[in-house]
Amino acid sequence: MTGDIEALRSKPVCFGKLFQFVAQKIPFIFGLFYPLAGPKTLTFGIRIIFDSIKNVSTVQNSAFLLFLSRLTIFSKQCFQMVWRHKFSKEKIMSKIAIVYHSGYGHTEKQAEAVRDGASGVEGAVVDFISVENVDENWDQLANADAIIFGSPTYMGSVSAPFKEFMDKSSKVWAEQGWKDKLAAGFTNSSSQSGDKLATLQQMAVLGAQHSMIWVGLGLLPGNNSSTGSVDDLNRIGSSLGAMAQSNADEGPEKGPIASDLETAKFLGKRVAEIAGRFSA
Ligand SMILES: Cc1cc2nc3c(=O)[nH]c(=O)nc-3n(C[C@H](O)[C@H](O)[C@H](O)COP(=O)(O)O)c2cc1C
Repeated sequence: MTGDIEALRSKPVCFGKLFQFVAQKIPFIFGLFYPLAGPKTLTFGIRIIFDSIKNVSTVQNSAFLLFLSRLTIFSKQCFQMVWRHKFSKEKIMSKIAIVYHSGYGHTEKQAEAVRDGASGVEGAVVDFISVENVDENWDQLANADAIIFGSPTYMGSVSAPFKEFMDKSSKVWAEQGWKDKLAAGFTNSSSQSGDKLATLQQMAVLGAQHSMIWVGLGLLPGNNSSTGSVDDLNRIGSSLGAMAQSNADEGPEKGPIASDLETAKFLGKRVAEIAGRFSA
């Protein structure tokens, strides 16, 4: 998967590269014309080529055939570049990793919504990593353009398994391996507030320690006026990341509610879009 991303990234997709390519080929084309044109200028090249066909000379015809084959290849390459830039679905890709913990499945549902939002962005590929499996996935994190952290709020903090992941990441921190990657976060808890902000702050500080670039939620608060409702996006009114609330006596099939999942989806989409711009 990583190879695919690198391959696409290395493809020329902008007109700047097209012009560079044409400029590189000009001496080559001129060089092909020159034996046919002799001392004459390039302007007469085409006429001389046709003359050379009439005055059947083996040397001239070989040069002409060589020229034609090169011209065909060159035209095809130019056409492919323009096509890819203008019409192809292949765009610069971004790689997003979601690292999350969920004790009872609620935060996992939120994480899945973040994943849906990110993977819906054209060119984005998403790795979905539970902290329990992080040891097999450090390479995925190293290759990611953005890492989105997710944890339930337990005792006004990230959960212990998520904290374990944070501590394990100190090896990467020592080498600043995630420097300049994007970072974002989400959390879920049973109370409306439940001190979720403290959890997101811990994640943002984690990102800062890794010299990552924090991406906030990017939504105005919902449900904060007489016309608002719990169905609003960002109904909990967070700025630092996506928050969700799940009733303590209900399982993940009931919570978080749809608007919280949409808010999480929004965060995933936002991070993937920004990652695409950063890696362009
Ligand atoms: C050990 C523990 C501590 C908790 N502390 C908080 C808390 O500080 N604030 C809160 O609102 N909910 C708290 N909760 C409730 C959870 O945040 C809530 O049940 C959440 O939906 C669990 O997510 P999960 O299913 O992904 O583990 C706590 C739950 C547990 C098990």
